[in-house]
Amino acid sequence: MRPEVVPFFHDGSNTWSYVVHDPGSRAAAIIDPVLDFDMASARTSTSSAERLLAYVGEHGLDVQWILETHAHADHLSAGDWLRRQLPGARLAIGDGIRTVQKTFRPIFNLGDHFPVDGSQFDHLFAADARFRIGALDARVIPVPGHTSDSNAYLVGDALFTGDSLFMPDGGTARCDFPGGDAATLYRSIQRLFELPDETRVFVCHDYGPGGRDVACETTIGAQKRDNIHVGGGIDEATFVATREARDATLSMPALILPSVQTNLRAGALPEPEANGVRYLKLPVDTL
Ligand SMILES: [Fe+2]
Repeated sequence: MRPEVVPFFHDGSNTWSYVVHDPGSRAAAIIDPVLDFDMASARTSTSSAERLLAYVGEHGLDVQWILETHAHADHLSAGDWLRRQLPGARLAIGDGIRTVQKTFRPIFNLGDHFPVDGSQFDHLFAADARFRIGALDARVIPVPGHTSDSNAYLVGDALFTGDSLFMPDGGTARCDFPGGDAATLYRSIQRLFELPDETRVFVCHDYGPGGRDVACETTIGAQKRDNIHVGGGIDEATFVATREARDATLSMPALILPSVQTNLRAGALPEPEANGVRYLKLPVDTL
């Protein structure tokens, strides 16, 4: 059976979150939910995540999974908040999160008591792990390159690419964060290109290049043919040169510091200090 996919756009970070469900059993997964965060005031809000909850409630869906494609650097995850609203759901990410935690624990000086075993999540997927969403077959496809822990999720005929492929006219995700590597991303994408051309592709971000409306859905066939960075049989060396030249021009995402230290904790904010306030750190002259 073909999964039903509904996209939700987050304006501030140009992120697409998704609810995917099995029309037969109503079993569902939420992919890459966003926690709203205003940098100037350090104020959080769950209004975006509440839209997902409202949709799930209105359609009587049984959310079994909250899936993160990777530890995002441009937005805070609402995964921890959502799992507290949805007791049947398990919050999962790839087991590469442990490497990301090991990389960033010293950067944020989180101390030895900060676990780097991924135990902040309910489940860690190994590469190529298979799981089910009701009657739907789902599979983890590692797509390292943007980050070392990046996964795509294939649910029936629907591929959620995370930060690997963007829309064909948007190209690909940047590869210059710690643990990123352009040649690795190229090889990850070649794996995605082995899927059938008619596979539906749902991207994690869209920035509406050239002023077009934001979009989220394409196909593997369209990506192979038209993707401006990897389509038309572009070779690895050309891709790496293009990607690295472009990355050299990009500034850090506005929310990278609050995002990474929250997403290492599965979207939970740091424990409150003695005065009851939670604090995020800004490591100076480090990134
Ligand atoms: Fe990302």
